[in-house]
Amino acid sequence: MTDNSDDQSSSTSQASLRIDVLTTFPELFADREGCVLATSIPARARRAGVAEYHATDIRSFATGKHQKTDDRPFGGGPGMVMLCQPLWDAVQAVEAADPRPATRILLTPQGVPLTQAMVEELAKKPRLLLISGHYEGIDERVIDKLAPLEISIGDYVLSGGEVAALVLIDAIVRLLPGALGHEESAAEDSFSPTAPDSKGRGGGERLLDCPHYTRPREWMGVEVPPVLMSGDHAAVDRWRLEQRRERTAKRRPDLLKKNPTQN
Ligand code: 6GU
Repeated sequence: MTDNSDDQSSSTSQASLRIDVLTTFPELFADREGCVLATSIPARARRAGVAEYHATDIRSFATGKHQKTDDRPFGGGPGMVMLCQPLWDAVQAVEAADPRPATRILLTPQGVPLTQAMVEELAKKPRLLLISGHYEGIDERVIDKLAPLEISIGDYVLSGGEVAALVLIDAIVRLLPGALGHEESAAEDSFSPTAPDSKGRGGGERLLDCPHYTRPREWMGVEVPPVLMSGDHAAVDRWRLEQRRERTAKRRPDLLKKNPTQN
């Protein structure tokens, strides 16, 4: 089995979230310079001991001398279909490697579209097992037996689930306490629920982010909005919330229909 993340951490205690990935391209999840999970926030989460990543090569569970993980589709047609057995055996072996129960997730364009609300729920789990299919698809019988959550990252097609798995991992681990520096907060991001007002009313809207500005005060003849220079924090907060609502109405009216209870 390929597990390119074991024993890389100096910490011996267990992270708040363990993420396993089953893939035929485990090198994409390596803890090596230039790799996504060795960079920026995902790397910081690992270093902080709040996330651990384990990639396992499905091919190492293939039997027979050619170590086949796929075959031609019954009924004909283009592309290849991932075999049941190597994937099934990989899931059993990886799940047995740690007593924490794993939430199984299959990355597929046939899945439910990923939302920030789903990301928030997944960030509370102790362990995720991500399955990245490649090829034309996976034999439906092993999907039925594994009964994973099926998640899509949008209405377009990728050549494989690996990049989608990296997207999901990034979105989740940045929410884990300790993953962002304390100077940053995920609470004010696009799609994060807005806070209630000072009287505890309202809040819970999922909006796009507001515009941001930094120095210089004037650039190419354009001034920064004066309220941001006023020093009035309450006025700044009101302005930002207004900007978020306006932007969302203009660019993503679909989000306003879902607010604030759904999504
Ligand atoms: Cl999760 N996988 C693939 N292969 N394509 C996608 C996707 C996932 N989400 C959107 N397109």
